[in-house]
Amino acid sequence: MNRDVIIACDFSSASQTLDFLGLFSRGNKPFVKIGMELFYSEGPDIVRRLKAAGHKVFLDLKLHDIPNTVRKSMKVLSSLDVDMCNLHSAGGSVMMKAALEGLTRPDGSRPLLIAVTQLTSTSPEMLRDELLIGAPMEDTVRSYALNARNSGLDGIVCSPREARAVKEACGAGFVTVTPGIRFPESGADDQTRITTPAAARENGSDFIVVGRPITAAADPVAAYERCMKEFVL
Ligand code: C5P
Repeated sequence: MNRDVIIACDFSSASQTLDFLGLFSRGNKPFVKIGMELFYSEGPDIVRRLKAAGHKVFLDLKLHDIPNTVRKSMKVLSSLDVDMCNLHSAGGSVMMKAALEGLTRPDGSRPLLIAVTQLTSTSPEMLRDELLIGAPMEDTVRSYALNARNSGLDGIVCSPREARAVKEACGAGFVTVTPGIRFPESGADDQTRITTPAAARENGSDFIVVGRPITAAADPVAAYERCMKEFVL
């Protein structure tokens, strides 16, 4: 898998998103992530518009429901021609297999399907005290990753800190998508398990997902180029 930087377009409208992407030069079409905020506000049309403009799209809706509901919802999403979409591995292996069934088009093609393991905003204390999971974070992420791989998924979302352990457990070809990216001088915001783009590269991430360090930067294009330079090139 070729390493790439995915920009989290966490905006509430199409106009804000298009204004932001308009900062990039004509030939520079970053891989973008459409999350719940933008999708709930603009619907499937924003996906079609960004695909038509030449962007690769990760549709980050994190499905987590009973298998039948997830199968049918993935079937709807399969018509949107996104490059990557996701669900929560906490929904279990039956749900993940149902998702794959729903997502696969009649010709056998489908977007990459990635499972969220533990959110990068979840701290070890939350895991223990709120989710009542006594195993260490890394063991939990590794186990969720193995469930995803054994259900036929292509990879997982995790912190870059866990990417190496996931690759060791699931194989080098199992894709790791890692949010929780910060430059050394920027604050963590609500994220807890963070690294720099360079550290994510060292840990073996395939894709870094970067939101506020790019979208809220004084010069977003320069921040994106810096991520590309430190992570990809
Ligand atoms: O602004 P920031 O770089 O923290 O954005 C990270 C993005 O990645 C957000 O859109 C968030 O929803 C998403 N994400 C995450 N942790 C996960 C899965 C997705 O931060 N485990």
